[in-house]
Amino acid sequence: MDRATKRSDHNIGASRRRGGRAGRRAPVTIGVFLLLAPIVAGCAENDQSTLSPKSSASDEIARLWWVMLIASAVIFGVVLVLLFVAVLRRRGPESPPLSSGRGGLWIPAVGGIVVPIVVLAGLFALTLRTLPKTSPASASATGLTIEVVGRQWFWDVSYPGKDVRTANELHIPVGVPVNVEVSSADVVHSFWVPELNRKIDMIPGQTNRVTLEADQAGTYRGQCAEFCGLQHAHMAFYVVAEPRAKFDTWLARESNPAAPPATPELERGQQVLLGSACVYCHTIDGTNASGKIGPDLTHLASRMSLGAGLLPNSKGYLAGWILDPQHFKPGNKMPGTDLSGSDLQALLAYLESLR
Ligand code: CUA
Repeated sequence: MDRATKRSDHNIGASRRRGGRAGRRAPVTIGVFLLLAPIVAGCAENDQSTLSPKSSASDEIARLWWVMLIASAVIFGVVLVLLFVAVLRRRGPESPPLSSGRGGLWIPAVGGIVVPIVVLAGLFALTLRTLPKTSPASASATGLTIEVVGRQWFWDVSYPGKDVRTANELHIPVGVPVNVEVSSADVVHSFWVPELNRKIDMIPGQTNRVTLEADQAGTYRGQCAEFCGLQHAHMAFYVVAEPRAKFDTWLARESNPAAPPATPELERGQQVLLGSACVYCHTIDGTNASGKIGPDLTHLASRMSLGAGLLPNSKGYLAGWILDPQHFKPGNKMPGTDLSGSDLQALLAYLESLR
């Protein structure tokens, strides 16, 4: 074999070895990425994460989560080391049998029974200690009650005694424990604002409670956390925590009936709405529209989103939603409309005036 052939054989062998190592490395790299993904995801800003707590309740939950993660990681690491040791020291078929003396049973007894009992009992005790801190405060300790009814697929929000009904958005004053009473009008949903407290199931015919108390002003995203049908993933909402004075202003405005149309175009827009099937599902306080199946529209224009967190609440998206809601959220209960261009423009102008 000449020198050139030898060299090329050598190169092929080396590249095969490199290819082999790279091939073996790929699953490891993917594994590391999969392990890191939730951690990296938890680092994003305003991320609807239990790991960026904004209340004392979610602070406790996050602390418990870290303790459990670290304990699990340590135990997993020890088990892996023992596994490697066992593999490295494996015995051949001719090896003498293991001693069956009493001394040999201590390690499995401690490692397999005592350690798990101590670890699990410790984590259980920590969980018991955390539970009351995330449980609903007594009615007298809370400054405000909000009722939220889960519906496929939006959140029907009302403030009892305040004549306020809205959708997909809760406003709360900062630093005040708010009693949120949840139930469902159809299937089981789950009310969850990860930065403020734990999940609470919304069950038809039953009222469950959770306390929300935000330490700082901000907008916190919430999400339905129980599979409830086709649009479960598009069942989100926002909790807006704001200083008391700002909250009081919001509440006072929301308790007003809808502003009467101030121009001929708005008048026409209102007529379009009141003359259509919209009135059977939607309420606009101060008009004949009093349907209860869909979201209340009395102050629609002041809300952040359309379709329960799905779309920004802007005129363009609102037009698209009115014409073909099934395109954006297939399976939802709202049928499309076929309005003329001028009727649609008037209706949009009217809805945009509902602040
Ligand atoms: Cu409602 Cu999932």
